Amino acid sequence: MGGKKPEGMVLINEQGLRADGRRADQLRNIKIEAGVLKQADGSCYLEWGGNKVLAAVYGPRECHPRHDQDPTKARVRVRYNMAAFSVSDRTRPGPDRRSQEISKISSEALDHVVLAHLYPKNAIDVFIEIIEAEAGTRCAGVTAAAVALADAGIPMRGMVTSVAAGKVDGKVCLDLSREEDNFGETDFPVAYVNNTKEIVLLQQDGHFSPDEVSEALEMTQRAADEIYELQKAALLRKYQQMAGAEDVEGDAGHEPQIEPEPQIEPEPQIEPEPQPEPQSEPVHDTGVEN
Ligand code: CDP
Repeated sequence: MGGKKPEGMVLINEQGLRADGRRADQLRNIKIEAGVLKQADGSCYLEWGGNKVLAAVYGPRECHPRHDQDPTKARVRVRYNMAAFSVSDRTRPGPDRRSQEISKISSEALDHVVLAHLYPKNAIDVFIEIIEAEAGTRCAGVTAAAVALADAGIPMRGMVTSVAAGKVDGKVCLDLSREEDNFGETDFPVAYVNNTKEIVLLQQDGHFSPDEVSEALEMTQRAADEIYELQKAALLRKYQQMAGAEDVEGDAGHEPQIEPEPQIEPEPQIEPEPQPEPQSEPVHDTGVEN
């Protein structure tokens, strides 16, 4: 954000379209899959434009170290990490200030919906791994983590969905691409709770007028509703697949079901073509008396 735009670089053309062909209020393509990891209690793989994100949830489980335990509720701990190979310049492995900040804000966003009081002294550990990054990884990470929490069966008051708006060439735009993030003027990530429309994450890097803030909120809220449908569909698909697999396993223990023979519809009776009368042979007198 705020990098010097190279001379001649056009981020929004005269038709109002962005460099990747999107309208100002259009999202990049998003694909969400729930339950992708066997070892985790819940998981999610999410592709969002050029971002590839894995989220895994472990818990509720006894919180260690013990001095971290809260006797009144579970701790929702998030670790956001960018893989060393996730960007073109290799990132230094391990937590840096940026990943610590993103872990903290993600944890606060998710903690707001998790019914943590049901699990005193426990920890719910959420791991967000950015495998490939192309701007907006915190939003993609939080969105994936919320699906992984639901996949783990963690009771929540609602689903968290995160998406950013920004300002590019003086225009409020949804879901900035890397170029827009680098050379745009403002980045404005938000996370909502789908059913209450509460805002559980809001950051702003750069400047917006009050009207632009309203426009960005309206734009992100509409987009969050759209993304929420994808989160829901991913979870539904996972459980439909599980139900399908159970049916197959359940059948394995029973007598094999014999497929009923397909009923063959009786052929329609075709009226026989009137056969020409056989030429009656001339009766020869055999000479035998009956
Ligand atoms: O990813 P997000 O937009 O939430 O956070 P950011 O700090 O605004 O980073 C924007 C983008 O810069 C990331 O998505 C990456 O594509 C890139 N980046 C990078 O190339 N190297 C880093 N060490 C950190 C970020």
